[in-house]
Amino acid sequence: MRDNLLALIATGSCASEGQFRTRAEQGHLHYPLPGVGKTGRRMSDIQHLQTEILGQIAAAPDEAALEAVRVAALGKKGSISALLATLGKMSPDERKSEGAKINLAKDAVSRALAERRDVLKAVALDARLKSETIDVTLPVRDASAEQGRVHPLTQVMDELTAIFADMGFAVAEGPDIETDDYNFTKLNFPEGHPAREMHDTFFFNPKEDGSRMLLRTHTSPVQVRTMLSQKPPIRIICPGRTYRIDSDATHTPQFHQVEGLVIDKGSHLGHLKWILHEFCKAFFEVEHINMRFRPSFFPFTEPSLEVDIQCRRDKGEIRFGEGEDWMEILGCGMVHPNVLRACGIDPDVYQGFAWGMGIDRIAMLKYGMSDLRQLFDSDVRWLSHYGFKPLDIPTLAGGLSS
Ligand code: DAH
Repeated sequence: MRDNLLALIATGSCASEGQFRTRAEQGHLHYPLPGVGKTGRRMSDIQHLQTEILGQIAAAPDEAALEAVRVAALGKKGSISALLATLGKMSPDERKSEGAKINLAKDAVSRALAERRDVLKAVALDARLKSETIDVTLPVRDASAEQGRVHPLTQVMDELTAIFADMGFAVAEGPDIETDDYNFTKLNFPEGHPAREMHDTFFFNPKEDGSRMLLRTHTSPVQVRTMLSQKPPIRIICPGRTYRIDSDATHTPQFHQVEGLVIDKGSHLGHLKWILHEFCKAFFEVEHINMRFRPSFFPFTEPSLEVDIQCRRDKGEIRFGEGEDWMEILGCGMVHPNVLRACGIDPDVYQGFAWGMGIDRIAMLKYGMSDLRQLFDSDVRWLSHYGFKPLDIPTLAGGLSS
């Protein structure tokens, strides 16, 4: 009812005072309109103003426009406020009658404002409900923190760390730029020994004293650093970057290894076999896997062994823990007494074992990548295919690669 009337006012169909009053008298208005009295001039001023403001209220298309009307009428400098301010200059009698009229107009305007605000709110809500339909069947979008991808090498290093941490191993680190002494000599590679040549080493220019720094060719110097700085018992793994002058589909000049080292009074090959067996089952996520230990040679271990795991090669795919084939995955052995001695550990009291494994290779084997070089190409399309979600952190309990 009120809306209809206000709409009428807005369209000007009842703009004349006569019509207006008639309707009010008929009860169409909820607010009384003053009749023309002694101070007729002022009365019709008030009435005109009220009519005009009610028209503006009815015509306000949205809440912001309505607020502007409110401020123009009832604000500090608003038109009705200005009328109220004139009361101070009137005689007490005049003030009494004029004050009542102005306040009636003010109330009428306030009421109309409130009602129009409700209407506009309802209209706005209606429009929002119509435009903001939610399709609850849409898949959940990745949060921005989920959009990046973890590189498979980082993933595999996290997996290794989770598995060995569960067996009580700590992670040790060393620098990529190493001394000849730690990379070779203390690991029982004698000067001029052919095993040094097998490492295709990147050397820096010799220093004045003739010594040469190099890019470490394996993670084994971290064994040396750990034994020199810690007392046994020692139980560490050392994942990290390694370098050799080599480049083809199965070799890159920079690659990754993880070293393992255990030094204690009673450690023996049986422990080593158990650890490697548990590791392979956990890493390849299989219940059973056969392993083969073959005699080998490394200067820093005696005896030295190479380890193969059981696999099946089928239509370009490799499966572990089944089949009749073997795949070499690491080298290991009992730490050579010369290495223990060079690192300040008495080989008559302590003994230990170590192993070294290529991380790139086991990452490729586990996640079915064909070319080693792709690991280093930084191709975002490749990464979004082979990468891992950043919040899926590998744990033994939660599943390494799920
Ligand atoms: N450092 C060796 C390499 O890069 C790998 C290795 C073999 C490490 C036997 C070991 C080990 O700790 O016992 O070829």
